[in-house]
Amino acid sequence: MEKTHPTDKPIVVLKDVWKTYSMGEVKVHALKNVSLEIRHGDFVAIVGPSGSGKSTMMNLVGCLDTPTKGTVFLESRDITKMSESDLASLRGKTIGFIFQQYNLIQNMSAFENVLLPLELQEFDDYSAEKRAAELLKLVGLGDRMGSRPTQLSGGQQQRVSIARSLAANPEVVLADEPTGALDSVTGREVLETLHRLWKTEGKTIILVTHDMNLARYAQRFIELKDGEVVRVEKNRDVQKVDYRLPEKQQGIG
Ligand SMILES: Nc1ncnc2c1ncn2[C@@H]1O[C@H](COP(=O)(O)OP(=O)(O)O)[C@@H](O)[C@H]1O
Ligand SMILES: [Mg+2]
Repeated sequence: MEKTHPTDKPIVVLKDVWKTYSMGEVKVHALKNVSLEIRHGDFVAIVGPSGSGKSTMMNLVGCLDTPTKGTVFLESRDITKMSESDLASLRGKTIGFIFQQYNLIQNMSAFENVLLPLELQEFDDYSAEKRAAELLKLVGLGDRMGSRPTQLSGGQQQRVSIARSLAANPEVVLADEPTGALDSVTGREVLETLHRLWKTEGKTIILVTHDMNLARYAQRFIELKDGEVVRVEKNRDVQKVDYRLPEKQQGIG
């Protein structure tokens, strides 16, 4: 069922955030006084050239890192004041990560790769297996559950990692250059999968990309340049997406 996007409720808020890396004597200001708000159900693309601070921002938004100055709120909680273990638990429940390198376990099938994080949670075997199969169907890989990463294309591997990122049913999916290792056709396939999740599952999607063709799938752009936000804008020409799964991908395993 289609969900309404986005809502007014903020899920991630950055307030006057600085991130400074010290390299010996030299200081690199990767983010300079950044403030922004991402709401539940948003689909945001963080764009900008290489070195502009996109990954640094992503790591803060995903609570993998803390700011040098300023505050980050996740679900209205100030993460700079939380203990490491409370933060890890909030992060685990709230955020799913997708990386450029798919980080799949090579000697496990697609199904087992998605099952693994479910087994670490409080799912019994039956529910975990049922959910892993559902997630793979959701990303159009219902007929490839038994395949190992080496038997799948790059785009299919990235879709397995998308399924895996959804294991804990996170509210937010963060994807940092998820198509960086893919050709443009496969890149679009991955973006359409993300778009479908946004549309049908009501997830908040935060995508980092330097490719404006892929950013067009988002509802909103946040553009960085030299560590500063230079543009926050609604996307007036959202890429149209066909929500039906391709025929050959619908097989039920
Ligand atoms: N761990 C680090 N140590 C030192 N400098 C870093 C580190 N991570 C990033 N930087 C610097 O911060 C700036 C922003 O980097 P990054 O956020 O990775 O940009 P992007 O993802 O847009 O390419 C760059 O100048 C980069 O060299
Ligand atoms: Mg980066």
